[in-house]
Amino acid sequence: MDDRLARFSESISFDHRLYKQDIRGSIAHAKMLCRQSLLSADEFLSIERELRDIESILDRGEMPFRIELEDIHMHIEQTLIDRLGDTGRKLHTARSRNDQISTDLRLWVRESLDAVDGLLKNLQRAFLKRCTMDEGVVVPAYTHMQRAQPVLAAHYWLAYVEKLERDRTRLADCRRRCNVCPLGGAAVAGTSLPIDRHYSAELLEFEDVAANSIDISSDRDFAVESVFVLTMISQHLSGWAEEWILWSTTEFGFIKLPHAFCTGSSIMPQKVNPDTLELTRGKSARVVGNLQTLLVLIKGLPLAYNRDLQEDKPPLFDSFDTVIACLELAIPIVEQSELQPQIISARLDQGYLDATALMETLIARGMPQRTAHHKVGALVAIAKSRSVALVDLTDVEIQSIDETLDGSIRTTLGVSGAVRSYKSYGSSGPEQVAHQIQRWTDKLSP
Ligand code: ARG
Repeated sequence: MDDRLARFSESISFDHRLYKQDIRGSIAHAKMLCRQSLLSADEFLSIERELRDIESILDRGEMPFRIELEDIHMHIEQTLIDRLGDTGRKLHTARSRNDQISTDLRLWVRESLDAVDGLLKNLQRAFLKRCTMDEGVVVPAYTHMQRAQPVLAAHYWLAYVEKLERDRTRLADCRRRCNVCPLGGAAVAGTSLPIDRHYSAELLEFEDVAANSIDISSDRDFAVESVFVLTMISQHLSGWAEEWILWSTTEFGFIKLPHAFCTGSSIMPQKVNPDTLELTRGKSARVVGNLQTLLVLIKGLPLAYNRDLQEDKPPLFDSFDTVIACLELAIPIVEQSELQPQIISARLDQGYLDATALMETLIARGMPQRTAHHKVGALVAIAKSRSVALVDLTDVEIQSIDETLDGSIRTTLGVSGAVRSYKSYGSSGPEQVAHQIQRWTDKLSP
């Protein structure tokens, strides 16, 4: 092989990360071969012993990588052959690197999905804990980035818990399709040798056995799908990061980020920069890009294995690394940030956050919605012209808009009155939020 091709085609520089999965798959395969009398018991035991020793060498980072051995599969197999000779040469019976890489990758993705799920759960718990920490605090909810209606901070935090829950259900769904055993599909057509694929699958704790050897050789859906799941997670994290960057500005002043996760400026001594959140937002771009890379990679590939598929690993690994790193930082930031209730409440009367609640009071008294909307709009205009809150309008001003109205409409005014008035399922009313906190506490308890 020309040196240039060896350098061009090697994957050991990145697929060495699969060594534990590769060894686990090989031991299961050898055990199955032994049970099927394709290996003797002695041969299996020496293969297993040497593979475990090779694993410990790899654990210690002591295996020299050689590009002429191309990938992790050949490094491990060649080392085995160097040690065991013909016995080592038997391991690859009824197997090809095509089903081998798919097995390794599925094992790796399965484990990594579980790691992500654990972090998502901890992030949900961090938001849930905030619900107690910030009990009773009312914040403005925004639509179009304009102040819309007052809500409980806890309701805000639970919005993130819901998003993360959808991420977890997507992840679980992806895991099911990943958790299917390709081993024994061989190159593309299966094998004439008497293997037992169900036994290999059982040893590797796969839930099912892939049923078509051609599909096995080509399928990377599980990898692409896992990166889509990660892309959605990174979108959620990016939106959250953007929000807390804004909330931590002097202009908002809603939240104080923990200094351990902020940086300073070399020239402006007063600065506390939210770099972790900015990078979380920025790194979501990589994950989106990785998804794009994988989709384009598989686009137009004919059946079955094509070497293009080797290129799936860098974007796959990078997506998991990136999202795991972001989640590991998001958890302490959510736990340790401090909401600033005084600053928030001092400005809560600005923006007529109680206008919708007032409108609903009028509707409850029998006024058609469009009419009530119009009348409250007129009241807001009067209040705005005098730079006062709705609660400060005089009886005369109220009656100038509608003589059937009087001062009694003031009872639902003010943000706390508005928050108390929400009753519908999933709303920000105190009873509804308490119900949701209880539901999540039950769901997320260990
Ligand atoms: N390094 C390869 C990959 O990641 C392993 C499979 C190679 N198979 C082959 N027939 N050359 O896709």
